[in-house]
Amino acid sequence: MIQPKGTHRMIATAARLNSSPAAHFLTRPSPHGEEGRVRGQAAVSCKGVTKEFGANGTRTLALRGVDLEVSDGQLTLLVGPSGCGKTSLISIVAGLLNPTQGSVVVLGTDLSKLSGRQLVEFRAKNIGFVFQQYNLLPALSAAENAAVPLIITGWSRARAIARAREMLATVGLSHWADKFPSQLSGGEQQRVAIARALINEPRLLVCDEPTSALDAKSGQTVMELIKEVAVQPGRAVIVVTHDSRVYGFGDRMVEMSDGRISAGGN
Ligand SMILES: Nc1ncnc2c1ncn2[C@@H]1O[C@H](COP(=O)(O)OP(=O)(O)O)[C@@H](O)[C@H]1O
Ligand SMILES: [Mg+2]
Repeated sequence: MIQPKGTHRMIATAARLNSSPAAHFLTRPSPHGEEGRVRGQAAVSCKGVTKEFGANGTRTLALRGVDLEVSDGQLTLLVGPSGCGKTSLISIVAGLLNPTQGSVVVLGTDLSKLSGRQLVEFRAKNIGFVFQQYNLLPALSAAENAAVPLIITGWSRARAIARAREMLATVGLSHWADKFPSQLSGGEQQRVAIARALINEPRLLVCDEPTSALDAKSGQTVMELIKEVAVQPGRAVIVVTHDSRVYGFGDRMVEMSDGRISAGGN
């Protein structure tokens, strides 16, 4: 079998985090393949994207015409000062927010052409999102939280939880699977959130300031994990950050200011 590029480093990192056999997860190619895609095609292509919030009087123009292409097999950093539009842009790319104008093509699919239901399905199958403040459900254990995307897509609870335990082992949390979010540190909660984002083996992983609430060591662990996903062929990762400790993990850096790409664009 031909090993995907970066496999050895992936195994090494997984082994460092946890020597569980579930580490094999990171070495598997995407099950979704590259169907319908030309090799080298951008994973994400935004053209003329604008976003306006509020009505007359309180209007905010958060994005003022963004053109951006993101390649797969890379970790793209999106940086810029607070309020410049980073979260708005990645929320649009992830299909969580509609642009006011412009086109957004993700993995060959124009998001504006999808119905609400198709968009939900497209997101569930293809996109993982890691939020700044983890967004775990407090009443669910770590394993239950990580299993949620599978249960939404129709897996039985037992199978989903078993798979979630594997994913938690991959992120170094095999002994924390039955703990609740309130019993976990920030770094552990963020790793549960990453397990949840990866459990559907998404081809696009989007992370919004994933290290901003973490100490240096937890931030490093979380970024190493995210980085391992980026080296997979056919997958793309976008990490929004204004944490300079994260910069070394990027293959490319795109800078935003005041609703526009100011450097590192296409
Ligand atoms: N839901 C919203 N309603 C109104 N204004 C918003 C909303 N979300 C973001 N904004 C505004 O849009 C601008 C860009 O915000 P955001 O995309 O969150 O920036 P960043 O993530 O770079 O800090 C800011 O001025 C912010 O106040
Ligand atoms: Mg933000």
